[in-house]
Amino acid sequence: MVKIEASILSADFSRLGEQAVEAESAGADGIQVDVMDGRFVPRTNFGPETVRTLRPLLKCTIDVHLMIVDPGLHIETYAKAGADRLIVHQEACPQRLYEVLQSIRRFGVAAGVSISPGTPLSVLEDVWDVTDAIQIMTVNPGLGGQPFLQDQVPKIRNLARRLHELGKSIPIVVDGGLNTNTAPLVVGAGANILVAGSSIYNRGASVAKNLAALQASISGFKP
Ligand code: DX5
Repeated sequence: MVKIEASILSADFSRLGEQAVEAESAGADGIQVDVMDGRFVPRTNFGPETVRTLRPLLKCTIDVHLMIVDPGLHIETYAKAGADRLIVHQEACPQRLYEVLQSIRRFGVAAGVSISPGTPLSVLEDVWDVTDAIQIMTVNPGLGGQPFLQDQVPKIRNLARRLHELGKSIPIVVDGGLNTNTAPLVVGAGANILVAGSSIYNRGASVAKNLAALQASISGFKP
């Protein structure tokens, strides 16, 4: 049904591997690694070594969200590091998106495209056949713990409707500001995979308790 991935951007960096395993053991369907280059987004964070280090520790999906310019130059590195899915931003490779998604698949990795809040769905119209996941950002990319952008919910609904029209079952990933209040909204709109950071990794409760609360908030939902 609806899958939940833990974004380790909000985890304790001094014990990243442990925190990723903790989420997997608590039932997370995947771990999202947010790679930032200080250019596509103002901060820098994680890299191929993070993926290479986590790979042997995890059986679940490792989803690498590339918030970097020219992602096409780095596909092979992340594929060989052990990524199961590579998500590139449409805004980072507007002219070459089709080609970049093809190159991801050539390495046997699932190819995903992410669009930021200001980017319309229409940019996806020519890449349906080379896309294995579409990520809708419900925060501006580049930082964990930001408030959820409610005005992105119609975009999720419109995407789900468009995919239905096309008869395509491409998973809709939603990333940013997801918690027990906002997760039901995006699942109700058609989300299939939720990426959550600060609602899973925080001082308020354990990873297991937080994940269980998030799962409970969407239980019974059918996209
Ligand atoms: C932000 C990242 C998100 C972020 C989610 O650019 O892509 O994955 O870590 O964190 P929360 O759930 O705290 O918004």
